[in-house]
Amino acid sequence: MTGTIGLLDVAALRAEEFPTTAGFSYLDAASTGLLPERSRRRLEEWGRLRQHPLPPKDHTFAVFERARALAARLLNASPDEIALTTNTSYGLNVAAQMLPLVPGDLVLVSDKEFPANVRPWQRLADRGIETELVPLTADGWPDEERLVTRLADPRVRVLAVSLVQFANGYRVDLARLSAATRASGAWLVVDAIQALGQLPVDLAEVEVDMLATGGQKWLLSPWGTGFLYVRRPLIERLVPPFAGWLSFEGTDDFSRLTDYDPAWRLDAKRYELITLPFQDFAAFNDSLELLLEAGPSRIAGHLQGLHEPLLDLAARRGLAVTSPRGPSGSGILCIGVGEAGRKLHGALRVADVHCSLREGSLRFSPHVYNAIEDTERAASALERAL
Ligand SMILES: Cc1ncc(COP(=O)(O)O)c(C=O)c1O
Repeated sequence: MTGTIGLLDVAALRAEEFPTTAGFSYLDAASTGLLPERSRRRLEEWGRLRQHPLPPKDHTFAVFERARALAARLLNASPDEIALTTNTSYGLNVAAQMLPLVPGDLVLVSDKEFPANVRPWQRLADRGIETELVPLTADGWPDEERLVTRLADPRVRVLAVSLVQFANGYRVDLARLSAATRASGAWLVVDAIQALGQLPVDLAEVEVDMLATGGQKWLLSPWGTGFLYVRRPLIERLVPPFAGWLSFEGTDDFSRLTDYDPAWRLDAKRYELITLPFQDFAAFNDSLELLLEAGPSRIAGHLQGLHEPLLDLAARRGLAVTSPRGPSGSGILCIGVGEAGRKLHGALRVADVHCSLREGSLRFSPHVYNAIEDTERAASALERAL
């Protein structure tokens, strides 16, 4: 078992928080992350809570406050810029529906993005707003040069991009896209579900307008958790496309809810549709604490080390590595397998190696709970099956 990585002791972490992982090699966080023990226990605790009279409202709603604070810490943002959501799609749909776009406006999206970051924009076609899918480079990556060039077109009002691409792990140069959108005046909307939890993101350094994520992948959290970040100065300008009952001033006092104060909340809570799942956000808080303890930079370094056995195999057997390396890379490593994909994916599963088959490649996405033995096992099972 691998020992310590920085201050991250993978063996201890596995023993304490991921005790089931001894029996299999789970390399599929880009699909769904494993739940830590502390989060599983929390779900059970909240299940038990629901069999008794509930604690006072301040106790239950403190879960959401904590969730906003932890999400903000992960982004180096402020808790009042965080709205809790149930998935990435919710946040991206809110963004698409509430940006002040008019007929003739253009939304830029890289081709081959995950549909969650395409459909909400294409949905605007009935308002005369067009979505332009910008072709990939010859390597299959988002063409950042072309995205930046297209921003010069004054009709382009939005650039919507995944920080990390789901099918190959390509990490866009967010600082560059931020600078280009700041210069052109276009809104920058980021789908961060394939990035948050596996690499550092600092929104105090790099300005984006909105950022959406779900918790179920790299954030190791229950399904049905997520959040939307909206940059502070935009909140008062951007009115939600729907009205939550707790989205207004004065609604914290449940003894006089029918005053119907018309003033929207001044923070990102205006975008929430309460009631949200308390039990799932309680567990989300535990998972985020674990990730913050481990540290996103340390996790990113750990994942690069875990790729080595698969990269060695690819080099030895002449397999195409379909993920970028270096600064455009991430914790996702893809190996092109073409027609043999289903057979090889099946053989890995039989060997208890869990990964995904995406767009002609085997996608390996290790996380904080993986040791080098996992990717060694994946590499030898893949070699046997070739
Ligand atoms: C880039 C990207 N966005 C969004 C999603 C999922 O969206 P949601 O959280 O709405 O299910 C995925 C993965 O399934 C994804 O890879």
